[in-house]
Amino acid sequence: MSPFHVTRTLPEDAMAAALRADVLHGLTTDPKTLPPKWFYDAHGSDLFERITELPEYYPTRAEREILAGRAHEIAAALPARTLVELGSGSSEKTRYLLDALSGLHSYVPVDVSESALEHAGQALAAERPGLNVHALIADFTAGLALPDTPGPRLLAFLGGTIGNLLPDERAGFLAGVRALLSPGDALLLGTDLVKDEAVLVRAYDDAAGVTAAFDKNVLTVVNRELGADFDPDAFDHVALWDADHEWIEMRLRSRTAQTVKVPALDLAVHFTAGEELRTEVSAKFRREGVKAELAAASLDLTHWWTDTDNRFALSLSVAR
Ligand code: AVJ
Repeated sequence: MSPFHVTRTLPEDAMAAALRADVLHGLTTDPKTLPPKWFYDAHGSDLFERITELPEYYPTRAEREILAGRAHEIAAALPARTLVELGSGSSEKTRYLLDALSGLHSYVPVDVSESALEHAGQALAAERPGLNVHALIADFTAGLALPDTPGPRLLAFLGGTIGNLLPDERAGFLAGVRALLSPGDALLLGTDLVKDEAVLVRAYDDAAGVTAAFDKNVLTVVNRELGADFDPDAFDHVALWDADHEWIEMRLRSRTAQTVKVPALDLAVHFTAGEELRTEVSAKFRREGVKAELAAASLDLTHWWTDTDNRFALSLSVAR
């Protein structure tokens, strides 16, 4: 079995403090918001895995099609010795890259979920003799310090998760990514593409109600972690397309006028009937926009691959 290390760069209590700050801020501003990162407790991560298998939710399948077909082109363009993956989760799609990168020395999965990292990292280290797996428990939207592994580095951020960031947050994130790279290293970025509104809305409001349950799970997380008394049944799941910003928003709409208590924050939050709490932005992209955002972070787009239905793109950009 190959070496497997886990490094925690996130202090044990940092997540709890971040949740408190996000909930306090989000529930006391107008309009109310909660950041999407709090969907992913064990139950929310399970629900997300189920979302990826829904007939309406195409991004995971589309990205897998691209990776399966293009991994060798990616490896030829950037014969990485270190593969860093942000938000690695189950590392399921990563296997295409690991198979194609013949000279790979180290795989560095980065995630906030220790259980996902342990599980996926142990399995990979056992399967791949000679590969060093150095897992990092870290929040990649904050500062990251990478282990000292050989270049060139390929940093992968898959799944379209960059769409969860607002435009100014994306600029900061891409600048942070660029700071982790040396000239000649590259970013492999997954972005969901602008398409027919009905297709997009269905992907975030499926017939089986799995996405609705995922959306409401954030209330359950706040109940458990902060002692709140949200009744998930008192809210309706809403998915809508914002054509000006070209993003999907998920919201929870209060069915009635109600007051929710959050004891850990000494807070009582009033909702009017029909008031909506924004729980996620999932931005959709076009090639020219991605290219410009990368260029602003000193990353030059060199490759752009899409699935056969042009729904999703993987881009490769090289650090200047
Ligand atoms: C994991 C952020 C890529 O935005 O499509 C799925 C999360 N939200 N269904 C996305 C999600 C609702 C997903 N990302």
